[in-house]
Amino acid sequence: MKVFIALLLITLAAARDLSTSRCSKFLHVNGFSSNFNETIAHAIHSMTVQGLQLFNPRAHEHNKIPTVNHNLHDKNGVKVLMYAPNDPLPSDYFGFSMNMIDKILAMIGKSDDGLGPNWSSTERIAHKFHMWDLWLRLQKEVRELTPKPTPSVCKCVLDVESNGVLQAVQWIAAHYESGTPITLLDRPIPKLVDSESWAFWKKDLLHYYTPEALHDAAVYLYCVTKDF
Ligand SMILES: *[C@@H]1O[C@H](CO)[C@@H](O)[C@H](O)[C@H]1NC(C)=O
Ligand SMILES: *[C@@H]1O[C@H](CO)[C@@H](O)[C@H](O)[C@H]1NC(C)=O
Repeated sequence: MKVFIALLLITLAAARDLSTSRCSKFLHVNGFSSNFNETIAHAIHSMTVQGLQLFNPRAHEHNKIPTVNHNLHDKNGVKVLMYAPNDPLPSDYFGFSMNMIDKILAMIGKSDDGLGPNWSSTERIAHKFHMWDLWLRLQKEVRELTPKPTPSVCKCVLDVESNGVLQAVQWIAAHYESGTPITLLDRPIPKLVDSESWAFWKKDLLHYYTPEALHDAAVYLYCVTKDF
């Protein structure tokens, strides 16, 4: 009986590996880059309902997008949420930018914006506006996707637990605790303190604006927001 169960488990695991690699091959054939796990994880790791609404105004919190848990003091130690949370901006100021600055600076020292203790105020501002900028760029990319992704492409790209995307979001969550990973390149990043370090940050923040990276993330975002 034990042998039978062991064999069954091995067979199931092998079947899953096969379907995972089939999905990856299938996505590569359909125009995905070789590191789509990272391009997609980067685009969604700090996604919010407000960000999703750029792609579908009906988007809400019942979504299946893995994101870094903003609450670093989570009682159960959950580092990655299996949804993008609702995260409204304050509205005391008039425009988007000042309300966003208010939101970021109001959290300094509380380290519950998912970034951990290593991020300075300036780095937080650059990160948050960079993600919004990328989402706005992706909004254009999603609108212009032709042809629209097929149901089988969507099925594979949304299977984040086996296609590597969830694992890459987990990588980001883990690295926030020890540094300021603005790419998944796993190399040292200087503190953002002057024009020289900004030149480094600027180049790194532009790392996922390539046509390939935008295409990977746009297909994922199209698929994950089309059914709200
Ligand atoms: C993404 O996928 C590539 C290729 O399978 C792998 O080498 C890399 O480690 C993955 N990245 C992360 C952060 O999981
Ligand atoms: C991140 O913060 C921790 C705790 O404050 C510190 O020990 C570590 O050196 C910092 N890492 C970097 C890359 O700055």
